[in-house]
Amino acid sequence: MKTRITELFGIEHPIIQGGMHHVGYAELASAVANAGGLGMITALTQPTPAALAEEIRRCREMTDKPFGVNLTFLPSVKQPDYPGYIEAIIKGGVKAVETAGNNPQKWLPILKEHGIKVIHKCTAVRHALKAEAIGCDAVSVDGFECGGHPGEDDVPNFILLPRAAEELSIPFVASGGMADGRSLVAALALGAEGMNMGTRFIATREAPVHDNVKQAIVAASELDTRLVMRPLRNTERVMTNAAVERLLEKERRLGANLKFEDIVEEVAGVYPRIMKTGEMDAGAWSCGMVAGLINDIPTVQELIDRIMAEAQGIIRQRLTGLVNG
Ligand SMILES: Cc1cc2nc3c(=O)[nH]c(=O)nc-3n(C[C@H](O)[C@H](O)[C@H](O)COP(=O)(O)O)c2cc1C
Repeated sequence: MKTRITELFGIEHPIIQGGMHHVGYAELASAVANAGGLGMITALTQPTPAALAEEIRRCREMTDKPFGVNLTFLPSVKQPDYPGYIEAIIKGGVKAVETAGNNPQKWLPILKEHGIKVIHKCTAVRHALKAEAIGCDAVSVDGFECGGHPGEDDVPNFILLPRAAEELSIPFVASGGMADGRSLVAALALGAEGMNMGTRFIATREAPVHDNVKQAIVAASELDTRLVMRPLRNTERVMTNAAVERLLEKERRLGANLKFEDIVEEVAGVYPRIMKTGEMDAGAWSCGMVAGLINDIPTVQELIDRIMAEAQGIIRQRLTGLVNG
């Protein structure tokens, strides 16, 4: 399946694995690359630029296909060494970067100078248009369903994607709620050139996270995510658990007076405990509503092959059949 996204990134299938904190290591990025998609190493999961350089080197050992690096610009207590991470990306010969969070304008000239294609992930049409205006090559349009940070507008993909299609000239992928061949065909029908998945890729054999995390996704339904940090305007969609319910109780109790310090215990530094040691009640971790569509833990290759076969089946049989009577 050739689309503007497969052409842009030199990949076989229009499927991207979005950056994921403490999930997007070389093991997953290379598995996605080897299966014909675009895998992403998550820069900020690496403690230093030198560690990112080493992760890129490890990934290259596991695949000779293209892969990318996610650079997230979110409010954080201590500002990461972005110039250092960017140097590691450039020196590592990576040719695709997924930016997310704040506007990446400041970093675009140096990335472009080195022939790096930039796909910016955003949750609103106005932000996608801004990304286009500042010279991003593509955008990942993240609907309200998504795991992680859906923004504050709450527009689901059935509206957001066709709105993006009406406004954008650069290609975009659909992100949030994508799981299978049906998702891919729907995304294409709404004007996207492919899809980006987060949660679905965690429940794969190669995702280097504790089995408890994968089992929790398989067990969860579409009703099991919650939105936290709304009062801080830093909304995150997470899987519910005891810590998340405690956090929500604090949000209800403190209302507009809530401060980050009040919820530190539930959100700060919890990722390693969840992803590595499988302590599922340690705190809030991002998860999409799409968990309700995830019922197994295949290899990445099986997952991507199945998505492409299902998508082609839907297009060739069901949809073509409908118009041919
Ligand atoms: C556990 C987890 C961690 C994530 N961490 C990041 C991150 O560090 N940076 C980022 O840009 N997006 C992050 N995301 C968002 C994903 O890249 C992707 O946009 C999102 O998961 C898409 O929605 P879906 O989960 O419904 O597929 C994360 C998502 C999950 C589930």
